[in-house]
Amino acid sequence: MKKYTIFLPITLLMISVISCNNTVKSNYSNQTNAKVKTTTYTASNHPGKKIMEAKCYVCHSPSANHDNRIAPPMVAIKSHYLDNETSKDEFISSVWNFVKKPSRDKTKMRGAVKRFGVMPYQPFSEEDIKLISDYMFDFKIEEPEWFKEHIEEEGNSKMKYRNGAN
Ligand code: HEC
Repeated sequence: MKKYTIFLPITLLMISVISCNNTVKSNYSNQTNAKVKTTTYTASNHPGKKIMEAKCYVCHSPSANHDNRIAPPMVAIKSHYLDNETSKDEFISSVWNFVKKPSRDKTKMRGAVKRFGVMPYQPFSEEDIKLISDYMFDFKIEEPEWFKEHIEEEGNSKMKYRNGAN
């Protein structure tokens, strides 16, 4: 009996310490989940969207019409750089591989190079290009009204219209 009177309080104490610890832990993990949620980007708050609009739309505008453009719209790039198997990492690194040093040898868009000449080199940062292509991969991007029809009419390239959310 004496044994129990010593052990019971100790056991109770231990149980309460353990359960208290658990509550603290689960609160903590709730907090971290909440944090992750608020930093998950949406189609409208993704930082890559703003950077793309500021740095790429000058030439790759989705609103210029087909005949007086100076470069293809971004949706044409997305369509040429993606197929059913392309992972996000592959997409991001192939866009960066071109943009860090544009050249005729690297092009996936021969028709565009023929029409517009090779994209002029500009010192974009890898970070910006990663954010832009992360945004392009994950979300449906703004596209010109004529684009889809134009691709389906041409039908002579291996490229397929792609502008889904992934
Ligand atoms: C000064 C005009 C200009 C700006 C600004 C510009 N580009 Fe381009 N870009 C072009 C032209 C012209 C082409 C088509 C010729 C070509 O493919 O090289 C092109 C093509 C591309 C291609 C396809 C390359 C290929 O041939 O496979 C990628 C990728 C690209 N641009 C990414 C970007 C990104 C990302 C931005 C913004 C950070 C950007 N460009 C800003 C002019 C521009």
